[in-house]
Amino acid sequence: MADLKTNFLGIESPNPFWLASAPPTDKEYNVRRAFEAGWGGVVWKTLGAEGPPVVNVNGPRYGAIWGADRRLLGLNNIELITDRPLEVNLEEITRVKKDYPDRAIIVSLMVPCEEAAWKAILPRVAETGADGIELNFGCPHGMAERGMGSAVGQVPEYIEMVTRWCKENYDKPVIVKLTPNITDVRFPARAAKAGGADAVSLINTINSIVSVDLDQMAPEPIIGDKGTHGGYCGPAVKPIAMNMVAEIARCPQTHGLPISAIGGITTWRDAAEFMALGAGNVQVCTAAMTYGFKIVEEMISGLSQWMDEKGYTSTEDFIGMAVPNVTDWQYLNLNSISKAKIDQDACIKCGRCYAACEDTSHQAIAMSEDRTFTVKDDECVACNLCVNVCPVENCISMVELQPGELDERTGETVSAEYANWTTHPNNPSAQAAE
Ligand SMILES: Cc1cc2nc3c(=O)[nH]c(=O)nc-3n(C[C@H](O)[C@H](O)[C@H](O)COP(=O)(O)O)c2cc1C
Ligand code: SF4
Ligand code: SF4
Repeated sequence: MADLKTNFLGIESPNPFWLASAPPTDKEYNVRRAFEAGWGGVVWKTLGAEGPPVVNVNGPRYGAIWGADRRLLGLNNIELITDRPLEVNLEEITRVKKDYPDRAIIVSLMVPCEEAAWKAILPRVAETGADGIELNFGCPHGMAERGMGSAVGQVPEYIEMVTRWCKENYDKPVIVKLTPNITDVRFPARAAKAGGADAVSLINTINSIVSVDLDQMAPEPIIGDKGTHGGYCGPAVKPIAMNMVAEIARCPQTHGLPISAIGGITTWRDAAEFMALGAGNVQVCTAAMTYGFKIVEEMISGLSQWMDEKGYTSTEDFIGMAVPNVTDWQYLNLNSISKAKIDQDACIKCGRCYAACEDTSHQAIAMSEDRTFTVKDDECVACNLCVNVCPVENCISMVELQPGELDERTGETVSAEYANWTTHPNNPSAQAAE
């Protein structure tokens, strides 16, 4: 069986699956049970400064989006950082770390954006023996209105400044957790690096309103008669998180900066995809909240089985492997030409592909009187829409034409040459450059 052991920033853990800072890591009871279930590490629920703990609402704090089978796709929350006393959390972290020396424990922190506040908490965290800290510059609700969380994460100068304070006052790894509530994630990532961050983790939750109660006329969850925006996470945010991870991994200024990936990770495959895009490990929240801690067993067995099949002996073998294949649109090969092909044996004759292509794509699917659906190669632009609306998996596939074959749509033979937009005759810039 493949070895899933990972070394992230010198922090060893038996597997790359860590629980993200959130309710699953809020207390000793949870974290012990998580470790017994097999999780490789945890990022403890965010601690705040000494003093009276924050206060959460006393009504519903979650909203959600579901698929047709009622499977949870997106989770929205208005929870704050830990509402338990700092001292209690620190004692628990110390005890758990002592009992589980082989697991990673990272302490998530969010204190006011003042050097004194960070200087006060860092030595106390160091005393717990935890393996590192994660700076929560991401929570988009509640704490942001108090000048913390995403209020810091949206200003690269603040990120750099606070990261530097932490590096100066704490010896172990500092991970900067980024907010997705920005326009270009590369700026905060560069700021974290400039401040000396050992790694970035992303994403925290996305600003969201998931639903509106049309009787009460208020966004949900409703507290009294009002609602507020929350933080969105779960499977629905994975594509957004993957793009952000890839952007940081392939940006020349941040390439090589270790990344802990977060966002909708539910299966071993999600984890493998993030790791292929450059993440050294992954963090999970919603999946554990939906299915319980034991979901890690599936993740561990699935990942190691896949690695065995592929001949990977360590996660290092495939981390970052997809990064060189993430490019800008202008570099895509315009001579790579495909056509849709329908497997008539698998087709259930529902007609969705026909409706989609006829009404919104290129009128490239023919429907016969007996409802046989066939692709017209002379019209098909290979957009892939039919594949995505077809309810039968693998019923429609995209078949790439080989060099020398005729593209019936354009009447041209397929070229073996790689040619992209930068050299295309229709590109005004390309023509100007000639
Ligand atoms: C209820 C809830 C509370 C959270 N609290 C924190 C927190 O205290 N600190 C933090 O950094 N992130 C917090 N998060 C964000 C998660 O750590 C994670 O970044 C996010 O949920 C995306 O991962 P997921 O899609 O696996 O849930 C919270 C998420 C949820 C759902
Ligand atoms: S790939 Fe696009 S254009 Fe071709 S048949 Fe399917 S929907 Fe139509
Ligand atoms: S959407 Fe799929 S199953 Fe339905 S008619 Fe088209 S090919 Fe057949």
